[in-house]
Amino acid sequence: MRLWHNPASPFARKVRVVARELHLTQALEEISVLVSPVNPNQTLAKVNPLVKIPTLQTDDGVVLYDSSVICEYLEHTYGQHHLIPNGAQRWQTLRLQSLCDGVLDAAVLCRYELAVRPEAYRWDAWVEGQFFKINNGLTVLNQSVSDFGESFQLGHISVACVLGYLDFRFADHAWREKQPALAKWYETIKGRDSLTSTLPS
Ligand code: BEZ
Repeated sequence: MRLWHNPASPFARKVRVVARELHLTQALEEISVLVSPVNPNQTLAKVNPLVKIPTLQTDDGVVLYDSSVICEYLEHTYGQHHLIPNGAQRWQTLRLQSLCDGVLDAAVLCRYELAVRPEAYRWDAWVEGQFFKINNGLTVLNQSVSDFGESFQLGHISVACVLGYLDFRFADHAWREKQPALAKWYETIKGRDSLTSTLPS
């Protein structure tokens, strides 16, 4: 399998963490590509019309996107329902992933607004609107920590990727001050091999 990714992308990191939790690193060729909203990567455009990472090509040649579909494929093909449980827990797991993906959408849009858009065109109210979503999401995650249990499944992987991305790109956001339960939980899991080996730097 081939995975197009970028080490800074939190969505690609989610897939890379899943691959490591499923012991798939030997089976997965990771291809790091540069992506930019204003300069589409022409190599990636040949396999994914949306020119987005992560993009996976399976051993059968099927191209899959986005991160949630790729994670589901990896778990379905190589996992044993540990990362996406069956029954009622499945929907909690997928909802947690969706919440995290939404927080990350807002965070990545802020990153592009603040780092890519020329300063003269920046719109403070728009950034504040994205941060409203980020902070609301973090509050719900903080309230959900008591339900996380001991396992480390796709929902928890998604939460770890959110917190890692905020620390990476928005280190002065100080989310820990308002979300102490989340901060405490993150301390217990952030040393996992799958997370340390994919930490953006
Ligand atoms: C970033 O540099 O923050 C980034 C890179 C790729 C995708 C998303 C975010």
